[in-house]
Amino acid sequence: MRFDVTGKVSLDHIYHQPDPRTYFRVLRPLDYCVPQQAKPYFAKIITEYRESRHVAVPKVLDIGCSYGINAALLKYDTTMDELYARYGDPERAGESREALLARDRDLARSRQPPQAIRFVGLDTSGSALSYGLEAGFLDDAVQADLEVHEPTPRQRAQLSGTDLVISTGCVGYVTERTLTRVVRAQGIHRPWMAHFVLRMFPFDSVERALSRLGYRSICVDEVFRQRRFASPQEQALVLDNMSAAGVDAQGLETEGWLYAQLYLSRPHDITDSNDPKREQS
Ligand SMILES: C[S@@+](CC[C@H](N)C(=O)[O-])C[C@H]1O[C@@H](n2cnc3c(N)ncnc32)[C@H](O)[C@@H]1O
Repeated sequence: MRFDVTGKVSLDHIYHQPDPRTYFRVLRPLDYCVPQQAKPYFAKIITEYRESRHVAVPKVLDIGCSYGINAALLKYDTTMDELYARYGDPERAGESREALLARDRDLARSRQPPQAIRFVGLDTSGSALSYGLEAGFLDDAVQADLEVHEPTPRQRAQLSGTDLVISTGCVGYVTERTLTRVVRAQGIHRPWMAHFVLRMFPFDSVERALSRLGYRSICVDEVFRQRRFASPQEQALVLDNMSAAGVDAQGLETEGWLYAQLYLSRPHDITDSNDPKREQS
């Protein structure tokens, strides 16, 4: 088992496969569940945005979207249990990527989306994004590492006009650098944001950067299970790092699970009366 600098087990290999089967096979024993926990919160905030901004089909940017997991949950009302069963079915282990994609396209066709949403995925993994697009989970995909590069003109165009920015399991890999570049691609428009962030990662620098861009951030007064620790060694490393950062893990991470918090960031002037998108709608 390899660990990254944060103490977490390194799972990089599962993010770059041609299809989501390895991702779900590796994460199942860890009970990775934060997209499921996030689903009702994302659904609520998307509805709130749609109704208050009169935008019929909000454009949602999922940062670190991987194979389009939040999109599958929100657009097609799937569940993590359903995806674990779908991608982890031992009887279908030998199925080709094409056959799996065909089944996923059928799923997308057969489900009436509970809410009309346009999903754009941003990730460094080209293979995960391709799968999400081909399956019909994602409507558009941006393969970029905005931690190190400015978006290209094409990427800027893809990012612009975003209504909501969401993420699960990604802040930590991405920081205020990515979020600032996403916001700058919007011109004067300010999308709402909802990020589920592990408690081991401080949000202060993101909050400060967003504040400079006109946002007010709040942390929802609740904690959410993300996944179980992969081993006692991972738990010990993470607990050490949390203790060094002054985060009290007692009763939470000490009990075997990594926990996330939900940060909501919205423009100071919530009415945003100069918002050009408001005029279009
Ligand atoms: C733990 S996975 C989360 C995937 C999905 N959001 C979920 O909750 O199931 C983290 C994702 O972040 C992506 N990632 C890592 N570094 C990134 C970066 N700099 N920019 C965008 N995505 C990144 C990885 O490729 C991976 O898909």
